[in-house]
Amino acid sequence: MSDAPAIGDTRRAAPRTLLVIGIGAGDPRHMTVAAIEALNSADVVLIPHKGPQKDDLAELRRAICRRFLTNPATRLVGFDLPVRDAAAPYRAAVDRWHDDIAACWQTVIGREAAPGARIALLVWGDPSLYDSTLRIVARLVAGGMGLETVVVPGITAIQALTAAHGIALNTIGGAVVITTGRRLRAEGFPPAADTAVVMLDAGMAFEGLDPDGFDIWWGAYLGTGDEILIAGPLGAVTERIRTARAAARAAKGWIMDTCLIRRRGAGDRSGPV
Ligand SMILES: C[S@@+](CC[C@H](N)C(=O)[O-])C[C@H]1O[C@@H](n2cnc3c(N)ncnc32)[C@H](O)[C@@H]1O
Repeated sequence: MSDAPAIGDTRRAAPRTLLVIGIGAGDPRHMTVAAIEALNSADVVLIPHKGPQKDDLAELRRAICRRFLTNPATRLVGFDLPVRDAAAPYRAAVDRWHDDIAACWQTVIGREAAPGARIALLVWGDPSLYDSTLRIVARLVAGGMGLETVVVPGITAIQALTAAHGIALNTIGGAVVITTGRRLRAEGFPPAADTAVVMLDAGMAFEGLDPDGFDIWWGAYLGTGDEILIAGPLGAVTERIRTARAAARAAKGWIMDTCLIRRRGAGDRSGPV
């Protein structure tokens, strides 16, 4: 289905507005004033269901709406998000998955929001960081759906991590690389950086690094009541992280963790270890 007028048709459907709202990394109080205003300006808020293991995340979105939504005309609409094919090669699988999500959004938006309506998507953390919402929106626009996009920034897991540990993200004048567990495991510590922030890590990719060469600041479920923080010299705290991580994952069924790793002796320590 496309909102694009047929060839020769000079009428134009009023574009819908898509509000891509960063909601922060787990603490409802991460919602900014701009995010609350955008939420309340929406006709429809789309709430994705990502399967039973991620129900907590859908619930956080609903909790945010219960807490901050005061506009009685705004409707919440739940929908099932397509699942990525975990067996297929990563890049191809992600590409296909984004096509499937774009098609799914197009159906839900076409069904639930009239031309000219305002639709909100609540994005974990900030929409610019390891999140594909904006790439998927670009597919919808390229496919002819009339959409004006408004992005509202949010507090990222990186800011939640550095604040929780009371540390600076960078050393003085030092470079920071934001990377994934997959890349850290495959490529080692980024050679040009003092500091690496590791996200999307299904395991503990830092285990491959020299235990005497780095300090680590690790956090799981940041900003939530289940937050766990561990920091110290890599070799000294790896086992503690392993134990805490396994126990938390067993108890909740899923884990979201982020860590900041810094070369030992990289200028300053930028905070307590
Ligand atoms: C798909 S990315 C989303 C990042 C998000 N857009 C942001 O701005 O933080 C998911 C990754 O973010 C990190 N993450 C997000 N929320 C977190 C939290 N509350 N605690 C720890 N890590 C978190 C984890 O590394 C997780 O694998």
